[in-house]
Amino acid sequence: MAKRIYIAGHRGMVGSALSRALQSEGDVELSSATSAELDLRDQKATC
Ligand SMILES: NC(=O)c1ccc[n+]([C@@H]2O[C@H](COP(=O)([O-])OP(=O)(O)OC[C@H]3O[C@@H](n4cnc5c(N)ncnc54)[C@H](OP(=O)(O)O)[C@@H]3O)[C@@H](O)[C@H]2O)c1
Repeated sequence: MAKRIYIAGHRGMVGSALSRALQSEGDVELSSATSAELDLRDQKATC
C-alpha cells in the first residue's frame, strides 16, 4: 500500500527536492497545494 504524504511548499527549494527524492523511492502518493490554494497559517483551513 502506497504511503500518503503531504508536501508543504512543494514549489519551493526544499519541498521540490523532497518531492523528487520521495518520488524516486516509488510506492508513495504525494499531495500538495500552493499557498494560494491553502494558506498553512490558516488554522481552520488546515484542520
Ligand atoms: N533553503 C534552505 O537552505 C533552508 C534552510 C533551513 C530552513 N529552511 C526553511 O525551510 C522552509 C522552506 O525553504 P525553501 O528554501 O524551500 O523556501 P522557498 O523556496 O521560498 O519555498 C517556500 C515554499 O513555501 C510555500 N509557502 C510559503 N508560505 C506559505 C503559506 N502561508 N502557506 C502554504 N505554503 C506556503 C511556498 O508556496 P507557493 O510557491 O505556492 O507560494 C513555497 O512552495 C522555510 O521555512 C525556510 O525558512 C530553508
